[in-house]
Amino acid sequence: MSKVLIVYGTKTGCTKGVAEEIGKTMTALGATADVVAAVDEVDVAGYDAFVVGSGVRAGSWHGSVKKWVAENAETLKSVPTAFFTTCLTMGTEPEKAPEVRSYTDKLIEDTGVRPVDIGLFAGMNDPSAFNLPERLVLKAIKAPQGDFRDYEAVAAWSQEVTGKLGLV
Ligand SMILES: Cc1cc2nc3c(=O)[nH]c(=O)nc-3n(C[C@H](O)[C@H](O)[C@H](O)COP(=O)(O)O)c2cc1C
Repeated sequence: MSKVLIVYGTKTGCTKGVAEEIGKTMTALGATADVVAAVDEVDVAGYDAFVVGSGVRAGSWHGSVKKWVAENAETLKSVPTAFFTTCLTMGTEPEKAPEVRSYTDKLIEDTGVRPVDIGLFAGMNDPSAFNLPERLVLKAIKAPQGDFRDYEAVAAWSQEVTGKLGLV
């Protein structure tokens, strides 16, 4: 059975939920999926594919995930890898998908890891999950509040990318 490692970076737990949904969908399709945080100790040996994703701060993935990709770049270049980004823009202004896609351009350029696809997903703006400076940033840009995660969209992408990763 094909094995996939799903690695996520999160500040509030939002992206963990998305990563778990990807894992659930891939498991249902017959893959063995492990879901871990980028800060967890994990042995990358023996996986047939990787899915790596992060929440966003100021147009960039969280440092822990960028570091994980850089540290494991040689492995990720040798095995099919997909990325996904969870952010507010995809919930409030989905027409800005090209801008969200570009959030990972520098990481791709710096590491040479070329994802087979990049999933773009709506995240959340839950003020109770943010600290005061973060709340002020989102208030200043008048960001709508709510949990905009669309698990059906996540499952649909997961199904599609399972094939692209050669898992089934
Ligand atoms: C200070 C701050 C900056 C943010 N910057 C962006 C941004 O540049 N683009 C965007 O789409 N979302 C942005 N967001 C929204 C987060 O990406 C969103 O809340 C996401 O769900 C976070 O996922 P996580 O908690 O799993 O890291 C920002 C949120 C905060 C608090």
